[in-house]
Amino acid sequence: MQKLEQIYEGKAKKVFKTDDPNLFIVDYKDDATAFNGLKKGTISGKGVINNQMTNRFMAKLEKAGVPTHFVEELSERETLVKKVSIVPLEVIIRNISAGSFAKRYGVEEGIVFDQPTIEFSYKNDELGDPLLNTAHALALKLATPEEIDTIKKYAFAVNDFLKDFWAKCGVTLVDFKLEFGRLVDGTIVLADEISPDTCRLWDSKTHEKLDKDRFRRDLGGVEDAYEEVMRRMMGAI
Ligand code: TMP
Ligand code: ASP
Repeated sequence: MQKLEQIYEGKAKKVFKTDDPNLFIVDYKDDATAFNGLKKGTISGKGVINNQMTNRFMAKLEKAGVPTHFVEELSERETLVKKVSIVPLEVIIRNISAGSFAKRYGVEEGIVFDQPTIEFSYKNDELGDPLLNTAHALALKLATPEEIDTIKKYAFAVNDFLKDFWAKCGVTLVDFKLEFGRLVDGTIVLADEISPDTCRLWDSKTHEKLDKDRFRRDLGGVEDAYEEVMRRMMGAI
């Protein structure tokens, strides 16, 4: 598989064309940003961890009935994926109050919900990824009603899988963000990444934060936290 020209560079990953028009290569960086790129830094070794963690989860989710863009891990930082056009929605599932939910509704972090919540943001950096509901997404023609139904179904299935998996590692899955894409034939598949960049992961006993909030909130020990969750994941896989 030949890595051809770069077609996109995001905050944490680069995407390259390959000699197969239906396949892309994703290359994970150590760059970290927060607050829509306002805060910038590096988390050493993050790209390797996020690549390997994402791929292991995608392979498992595929078996659990959630189609994904994952094809094959090529190196520590590079993965072959199916070409998708990303649905411009950030899909956020929450099991416990934290982050923008706690802030927006004026509640403390750590309230365990009876049912997981789902919310969408419009993936648009210029607008600061504004929150929107299903009717707004339909009005803006970001997705069809059928696609939204499929995305919701898959997002909750991912939550069921990840919550159980992390529990076995002594980790509580607080919330996470997913992105979906359309294959060339229109099929909706899970894309992007599942990593400590995109999930809130708390130690089940101590509630210590083991995710990117350590970077966002200047808590220190960022690299150690990423290594710790990766180590625990590898022990359970
Ligand atoms: P929030 O509480 O800041 O809305 O974040 C909810 C979840 O989404 C959390 O696990 C972090 C993740 N997330 C991203 O992956 N990318 C983002 O740009 C933001 C704002 C959150
Ligand atoms: N990566 C996102 C940004 O820079 C935010 C985050 O993950 O907190 O905007």
